[in-house]
Amino acid sequence: MIPAEAQQPKTVNVGPVILLGAPGAGKGTQAKAIAARYGIPQVSTGDLLRDNVLRGSELGRAAQAYMDRGELVPDALVFDMLRARLGNVDCNRGFILDGFPRNQAQAEWLDKLLRDRFFSEACWVAPIVLSFTVEYNGLLQRLTGRRSCPACGRIYNIHTQPPKVAGVCDVDGAKLVMRQDDTEDVISERLKVYEEMSLPLRQYYARQGRLVEVDGNRPQAEVTALAWHALDEHARSGEPHIC
Ligand code: AP5
Repeated sequence: MIPAEAQQPKTVNVGPVILLGAPGAGKGTQAKAIAARYGIPQVSTGDLLRDNVLRGSELGRAAQAYMDRGELVPDALVFDMLRARLGNVDCNRGFILDGFPRNQAQAEWLDKLLRDRFFSEACWVAPIVLSFTVEYNGLLQRLTGRRSCPACGRIYNIHTQPPKVAGVCDVDGAKLVMRQDDTEDVISERLKVYEEMSLPLRQYYARQGRLVEVDGNRPQAEVTALAWHALDEHARSGEPHIC
């Protein structure tokens, strides 16, 4: 259990937080816990893309086929979308990137954006990268058991975090849904794509001294405590500050 005082929002500046991990590793779940504690927004490229698909925007129409197959959406489409989102005023103090970057080209693009747009303007903290590792069978159980609330975005799992009433959100009573890409075929493609991209990306951030590995196999509250601890340490250390 996380002590109540540890759950209070923190005013420390943690800057940009990057969450890496396989599909189902808990990036979205932990992003919400980090957002609640540090008062910075979760920016999920998957959620932004799904929202575009739902609205039938030009971007959504272009992205849908890739997402349905479990492949990455072309970088150029994701860059435009993310540049616009990070330009919102709520990102000025920092943000949590959930699902971005997915490859080295995206990581290099992000470094350039952060340097050009953010680091030169104010006193910023260099990004910290939390990489959640979860063993393969655990990922499969999490993805096939995931249900989410279309109204408030809360994530459940029928095996490990079921709602109080089956199929219904505890917060607002909405009917829970399964994600369209949480079918066996698409899950296996998503995991394959992740395997191919993950090592070079982790090495990229390890070389920069930004990578923190987090054991994502542990229960959700323990993973949250590990993530918060890493972020508190990051904010406390003077080293990553760029002013
Ligand atoms: P995206 O939406 O980013 O999906 P993903 O990376 O496959 O990750 P998930 O959202 O499936 O998993 P998660 O790690 O957030 O896990 P969660 O917290 O929900 O991307 C979808 C698609 O969009 C991609 O395939 C691609 O096409 C496209 N896309 C997105 N970003 C892109 C980019 N940058 N470039 C190109 N294309 C892009 O948890 C999963 C389940 O586990 C839940 O049920 C949860 O309750 C449970 N759980 C969580 N933590 C624990 C725990 N510690 N113990 C037990 N259960 C747990």
